[in-house]
Amino acid sequence: MKSLAVLHVSQLVTLAGPKRPRAGCELSELSIVPDGGMLICGGRIDAVGPSAEIEKRAGDAEVIDARGKVVLPGFVDAHTHLVFAGNRLDDFERRLRGDTYEQITNAGGGIWSTVEKTRAASETGLLMQAKKHADWFVRCGTTTVESKSGYGLSIEDELKILRVMRRLNQETSLEIAPTFLGAHAIPRKMRADEYVDLVINQMLPQVTSEGLAEFCDVFCESGYFDIEQSRRILGAAKKLGLKLRIHADQLSNSGAAKLAGELKATTADHLEKTDEQGIVALKSGGVQPVLLPGSVYALGSTHYPRAREMIEAGLAVVIATDFNPGSSPTPSMPMILSLACTQMKMSPAEAISASTINSAYSLGRGDQIGSLESGKLANFSIFDCEDYRELAYWFGVQQTHSVYVKGRRAY
Ligand code: NIG
Ligand code: FE
Repeated sequence: MKSLAVLHVSQLVTLAGPKRPRAGCELSELSIVPDGGMLICGGRIDAVGPSAEIEKRAGDAEVIDARGKVVLPGFVDAHTHLVFAGNRLDDFERRLRGDTYEQITNAGGGIWSTVEKTRAASETGLLMQAKKHADWFVRCGTTTVESKSGYGLSIEDELKILRVMRRLNQETSLEIAPTFLGAHAIPRKMRADEYVDLVINQMLPQVTSEGLAEFCDVFCESGYFDIEQSRRILGAAKKLGLKLRIHADQLSNSGAAKLAGELKATTADHLEKTDEQGIVALKSGGVQPVLLPGSVYALGSTHYPRAREMIEAGLAVVIATDFNPGSSPTPSMPMILSLACTQMKMSPAEAISASTINSAYSLGRGDQIGSLESGKLANFSIFDCEDYRELAYWFGVQQTHSVYVKGRRAY
């Protein structure tokens, strides 16, 4: 593989810094190299610095002239539901007529309608749809995504979804960090406790013995899994060596953030309804909050999570798309940057840290991706703008120029 020299970058946004997630004011420090350059050998970053210095070391490397452009680490999207069949256009129209998420679910829409379509789909059919969506992520500048199962809700269908993720990892340039979310909803005609037992006694052992997931997640919410059921499932997952993520306090403040703190989960996600005590619990448990403004926006709500209080409390905030057919049909991290800034009052710099280095750490990959530093994988995106703030400022327009994964062009 030929070496690559990226030269004359208007702003090379490296995020070089301490080898840990960034908290408080650190979220604002992007370590930008103006007129920057980067040398890439064998799929990894060999050197980063002023363009003139990199050019001297470039030898016969292939040159990418990035004049007038911004270069960032590939976005790391730490919360998606990437594998499902069909869409939820009917729910979408119902919501526009004023129905709530709960009303739509009760009327036969919601998660369950996607479960029925996903169960009916073959592994190949699911893979084809997922590949189309994986391509959307890459075009938006994302090179790694966390992806949850959860539209199967039976052993064979949950395994089918996780196997599709494994194939996506092998057959596309997008890297997938797989999460088992068997506890996404309670299947029709089943009692909650009966399903919780199935998740704990059958699904989790099978998923872990096949090595199909790194994380376990639960939708902890009234009408889905309560605190006690969530504690049981996540406790069992932890014993089997999985790391924990939790859909917490999305629709109601049920104490899920506190549970995340108690279990020392890696992340607590959503947190729209989390209060001060929840924030204290996240801090004391060393939990990273993953904020998902795309779902607040798409559900037509204005109740965004308290990002500023979380940053001020010293939490290593992450932002992500929550890509899914029901509540957040967007793969676009630039859209999430826009929402994080306009609706949650994060600065563009904070939003960039939250979608690169912090999300990389939340996926246990902070030593490999999330910043442009020598030794890390050459996963980066080039944008057609001169200032990184333009990514959060212009919205609804594609600014991606090109995307590289392990030094190879992916878009
Ligand atoms: O993160 N909250 C639960 N899960 C998804 C929604 C899934 C769906 O509606 O299909 C979410 O918003
Ligand atoms: Fe989600």
